[in-house]
Amino acid sequence: MTNVQTTLVLGMTADGKISGEDPKAPPNFFPVDFAHLEYQTSLADLILVGARTIRLEGTTFTINNPELLAGRKIRGQSPQPITCVVSHSLDLPPTMPFFSQEVERWIFTTQTSLERSSDATILGKQAELFGFGDTDLDWDKAYNLIAERGIRKVVALGGGSLTATLVKAGRIDDWWLTIWPAIYGGKQALTPVEGVGFMPHSAPRLELLETRQVGSELFLHYRMLK
Ligand SMILES: NC(=O)c1ccc[n+]([C@@H]2O[C@H](COP(=O)([O-])OP(=O)(O)OC[C@H]3O[C@@H](n4cnc5c(N)ncnc54)[C@H](OP(=O)(O)O)[C@@H]3O)[C@@H](O)[C@H]2O)c1
Repeated sequence: MTNVQTTLVLGMTADGKISGEDPKAPPNFFPVDFAHLEYQTSLADLILVGARTIRLEGTTFTINNPELLAGRKIRGQSPQPITCVVSHSLDLPPTMPFFSQEVERWIFTTQTSLERSSDATILGKQAELFGFGDTDLDWDKAYNLIAERGIRKVVALGGGSLTATLVKAGRIDDWWLTIWPAIYGGKQALTPVEGVGFMPHSAPRLELLETRQVGSELFLHYRMLK
């Protein structure tokens, strides 16, 4: 293990959904949670985001609050954290606005995906491309690279599939979970941790570190027990 800290920051409705039944539907805006997300993200050297979230949203999350930008400068961080997209398919259209944003871009994939993708050369001009592992992404190798590049703080921003893979790999140290005062419902609507799930008897466990309530929004901070 490296000395890189990874914080997961996710919001979900009171019924446990991170997006609506139609993931293309624009999400609600919860101003307090947005400020919390911007603050937490402002601490990051690198953010991890799943390819599906980037494909749906088109852009990566950036910090705009002048005080948070000043804080980054004082800490010797670049204005924006590196955005690292995790993708198997490498289906990341080069015309996406993400590729024009003023951020450093990385893409984590596998060696097989790199060899099979006809877009790898084009993508390699727009982002740093890394292939870790043959067919399954090797998170140990990915985190060794992250540590070698001097990165100390990673913030994972979901979605549910990326979160599942990070939890399974034991890479999440702590988790800020916001409970939004809304109910999305829907059998197909995603939850914070997708993937194949865990057997209850061996499920990852959490320790609640702090809670904060602002109006009807609830902020829970957990430590992952390892
Ligand atoms: N409420 C919130 O806080 C929040 C936060 C973020 C996102 N969201 C929502 O969540 C939804 C998307 O979530 P999602 O679960 O469908 O997708 P996701 O986690 O954003 O992305 C899944 C994709 O990431 C790539 N990926 C994940 N783990 C990988 C691994 N170990 N190796 C290689 N590639 C890997 C794959 O990309 P490829 O398909 O390219 O192979 C996979 O299909 C959207 O509706 C978004 O708006 C909500």
